[in-house]
Amino acid sequence: MAVATQPAGAKHNIAGARQAYYDKIAKFHMTPLWEVLKDLVTPEPNTQCLPALWKFSDVKRLMLEAGEVISAEEAERRVLVLENPGMPGKSRITNSLFSGIQLILPGEIAEVHRHTSSAIRFVLAGDGAYTAVEGEKTMMAHGDFIITANWAPHDHGNPGREPVMWLDVLDMPTVNHFDTSFGAHYDEKMQKTNHADGDSFDRYASGVLPDGAPAQLNRSPVINYPYAKMRPILQRLKDTGDIDKRHGVRMRYANPINGGPVLPTMGANLALLPQGFKGEPYRSTDATIFAVAEGEGVTVIDGKPFEWGVNDVFVAPSWKRYAHSAAKESVLFSISDRPAQQALGLWREGN
Ligand SMILES: [Fe+2]
Repeated sequence: MAVATQPAGAKHNIAGARQAYYDKIAKFHMTPLWEVLKDLVTPEPNTQCLPALWKFSDVKRLMLEAGEVISAEEAERRVLVLENPGMPGKSRITNSLFSGIQLILPGEIAEVHRHTSSAIRFVLAGDGAYTAVEGEKTMMAHGDFIITANWAPHDHGNPGREPVMWLDVLDMPTVNHFDTSFGAHYDEKMQKTNHADGDSFDRYASGVLPDGAPAQLNRSPVINYPYAKMRPILQRLKDTGDIDKRHGVRMRYANPINGGPVLPTMGANLALLPQGFKGEPYRSTDATIFAVAEGEGVTVIDGKPFEWGVNDVFVAPSWKRYAHSAAKESVLFSISDRPAQQALGLWREGN
């Protein structure tokens, strides 16, 4: 059977002709899909996000140094970005989420502002600071989970005696992906508050709702899910043996209006790992940020062990397997963009 052959140099000629064609169409702002298709449609997620861990001992020391370098007022928000080592310069910990550690020193305030990015705080260390959101001023204690939803005015202050640090997670990369970032400042430094601390939790998260509460609300009206109220629920679940082989005793922070996630772009969980827990491997498409509220253990992410202790923060990238084990009884907070992926029909999980 005759085989078609090409004269020597034909390959070079074809490559040259193609390049000339690409150069020509580039002038019309067009480019060949066939040159990039394999990078656009991958058999599995091909993330730049790397697994990483930030030790609180380092974070605390470096944050307190920031307190000497810049005031909260000058910085507007004194935050050190937890930058994913696979995405330097991108101000993000996962492809869709920003994360940072915020420090507020005694006597400081972080002025009221608002933005279309939703934010959450998970309080790490120090007592005596507050966050004010939509008229409620809530005191911040270790393990508290505080929400400032899309466009909600918020300010922070520390009338106490200790430096206070917390984990910030915002959906800024997602908002900026859609080119939907808006932000605004106010004339006054602090918003007027007229709701007692805990008002929104009692009002919305007690099995009743105020008459006339909206039937649909795509974000939780609760400002603070206090650790003091969450921790005993984990204990209750543990005592009844409700322990997942991968996640331990885990509950999801819920929007009490509809049972959905606390925010449309971000969802969070709190999990208790019993002492000696050896979790089975798990992976999902939502890259997940973990903060350690209690205990110590190891999480193996994509084959690499990450040892953690109280207030450490670590991240597991999309579709990389991870497995937790706990040397002591431990509590892990976690947050990801799962609600956004689910709303778009993209989310997957596996072993
Ligand atoms: Fe903010």
